[in-house]
Amino acid sequence: MEYKIVELKSFGDKNGSLVALEAEKNIPFEIKRVYYIFGTKKDFVRGKHSHKNLKQYIICVSGSCDFYLDDGDRKEKITLDSPLKAIYIEGNIWREFVNFSKDCVIMVLANQYYNEKEYIKDYEEFLKCKKK
Ligand code: TYD
Repeated sequence: MEYKIVELKSFGDKNGSLVALEAEKNIPFEIKRVYYIFGTKKDFVRGKHSHKNLKQYIICVSGSCDFYLDDGDRKEKITLDSPLKAIYIEGNIWREFVNFSKDCVIMVLANQYYNEKEYIKDYEEFLKCKKK
């Protein structure tokens, strides 16, 4: 599956921590867009799509949620529960976010501006695209 779990380096001490994200340095692309998701109801399912061609770094900067990845052959569950854990996705992977804690904030860095045409929102279409 075309994703990586990355352990982020933090600066700080017992008084607090800081993580720096820099384009083309510890983030392996030019960052065109940053968005964050918060206040999601615990039993709501977010995502339910894939991207034809988008690089993303996904970090749960507060709280926790479960992230399901599916490349058409295999499904994997990753619990995002640390601001030091990032997921880097660059392939066409179906993703769903579930089980949000009240304080969950997910931050996403992407290498492209928002473009709805670049999404695949139908699971059968996603499977067809993977078989091509
Ligand atoms: P959506 O992609 O459905 O969110 P999720 O997959 O997390 O459930 O996006 C929700 C709304 O926000 C939708 O109307 C599109 C809009 N949106 C933007 O305008 N820009 C963006 O960068 C993103 C990710 C979404």
